[in-house]
Amino acid sequence: MPIDKRTMVPPEDLNIQFGGGDYLAVGEEIFRFFRDRFGLMPQHKVLDVGCGAGRVAVGLTDYLKPPGEYHGFDTYPFGIEWCNEHIAPHYPHFHFSISDVHNDTYNPFSQTKASEYVFPFRDELFDVVILRSVFTHMYPDQILNYSSEISRVLRPGGQALITFFLLNEDALAQQKRTGQGPTFHKFGLFHTENPEDPLDCVGYDEGFVRRLFTGCGLDITEILYGGWCGRNSNSENMQDYVLIKKPTRPE
Ligand SMILES: C[S@@+](CC[C@H](N)C(=O)[O-])C[C@H]1O[C@@H](n2cnc3c(N)ncnc32)[C@H](O)[C@@H]1O
Repeated sequence: MPIDKRTMVPPEDLNIQFGGGDYLAVGEEIFRFFRDRFGLMPQHKVLDVGCGAGRVAVGLTDYLKPPGEYHGFDTYPFGIEWCNEHIAPHYPHFHFSISDVHNDTYNPFSQTKASEYVFPFRDELFDVVILRSVFTHMYPDQILNYSSEISRVLRPGGQALITFFLLNEDALAQQKRTGQGPTFHKFGLFHTENPEDPLDCVGYDEGFVRRLFTGCGLDITEILYGGWCGRNSNSENMQDYVLIKKPTRPE
């Protein structure tokens, strides 16, 4: 008997702490994206970094089957507690864990630096990695380390979807035209909407993001620009989607 997914939707006051929006619709969109664009198979292994209250996980519950696995980790305990109480008991191959890593907004008292954190997984374990609305809350040295960790835990040929607010000429022109999206303040390649609370909403120069992944041995296969700055977009996610692939080894 399939589980009614509505029982896994967190209350709105919890959902809002992870960006709010239509929890089930976003998870469903990400699932279809992985299946149709990344060729996700039921036996694949998926890593969800900064998994929040499990909206990506819930989108995958009907599809991933053992030996397929889902692993989500997050620095903010309340979402993980929700997932461990409402999702994991029904799906033993879905795992959620707290990573006690410092984040000014979500985990301000931890002493573990995100710029030095080693993901608790072996090399080349995962077929697919996702970070949805996570690098939009982190500093450059932190996303540099996380990108290197993503490269380490992806198998050759594995793929990642990472969302950003990408600053480029088009985004700035769209913002000027529409007046939409965050008003970013530029600090070098780091842009924040709120200098008083810099990690609340972060954007990056597209050129930096491209160099970042190349430097970590990852290929950007495509960028799907989102509607955050007033562009037309049919997606549930307003952020830009950066699609990444780890090259296969030469024969
Ligand atoms: C806007 S929420 C998005 C949550 C989830 N990805 C989603 O789409 O619903 C940002 C998440 O990133 C997590 N986060 C921030 N810094 C992190 C870090 N260094 N490591 C892991 N997660 C982090 C936060 O705790 C928070 O759950």
